[in-house]
Amino acid sequence: MDSNDSQVIVSETTDKGFLRELIEANLTRRLIPKGLSWFGCMGGLSLVAFIIQLSTGIFLMFYFIPNIRESLASIQHVSHSVPYGWLIQRIHAIGPHIMVGMVFSHMLRILFKGIYRHPRELHWVSGACLLILTLLMYYTGSLLTAHNINGHHPIHLTRIYAIHVAGIPLSMALFMGIHFFMVRKTGICESL
Ligand code: HEM
Repeated sequence: MDSNDSQVIVSETTDKGFLRELIEANLTRRLIPKGLSWFGCMGGLSLVAFIIQLSTGIFLMFYFIPNIRESLASIQHVSHSVPYGWLIQRIHAIGPHIMVGMVFSHMLRILFKGIYRHPRELHWVSGACLLILTLLMYYTGSLLTAHNINGHHPIHLTRIYAIHVAGIPLSMALFMGIHFFMVRKTGICESL
């Protein structure tokens, strides 16, 4: 073994150690507060719901045609001809109802426990922006469903689609970044 080989092995083990350290410090070694209730999990579950909506939405983007004449047929094509398309389409359609419920119960818990007070004012403000964006996502999505799609002007439909698949999700990712950064800075409230 020459010196180059040993350098590669050393750098690989340091990388592995660094990655393991990063995962342990941020995930596996972190403790869950004792007696955590379902209400206390709603922030995390809202994030899981967002990730599910994002991944099923990306799948649907491959098939959906944002055009008055073809959109309905494209939804039917995903549901009837694409393997597991019906399941992914159903998850993407039912998910928002559950997500809105989760975000509201997360907010109500914070409100009733008074966790919005100093030093968590900005958590609350960024959270309120997330609530508005979640509701906008819900509304624009409902305008793209099979029931509502026929009433649109063609340009109107393309705009709604662009806002639904790009504008709002990107803003949500930004506000989530701010929200989680702040939660990491103060730590979660003891009274979870
Ligand atoms: C998509 C929407 C949202 C997601 C994904 C989300 C996610 C989270 C997560 C994972 C936490 C840390 C764990 C926890 O305390 O539950 C958290 C904390 C917090 N969230 Fe949200 N949240 C959202 C919306 C909101 C809304 C609508 C509000 C209020 C208007 C809000 C206010 C707060 C506050 C004040 C904290 C700090 C709680 C503490 O320190 O214990 N969030 N959020």
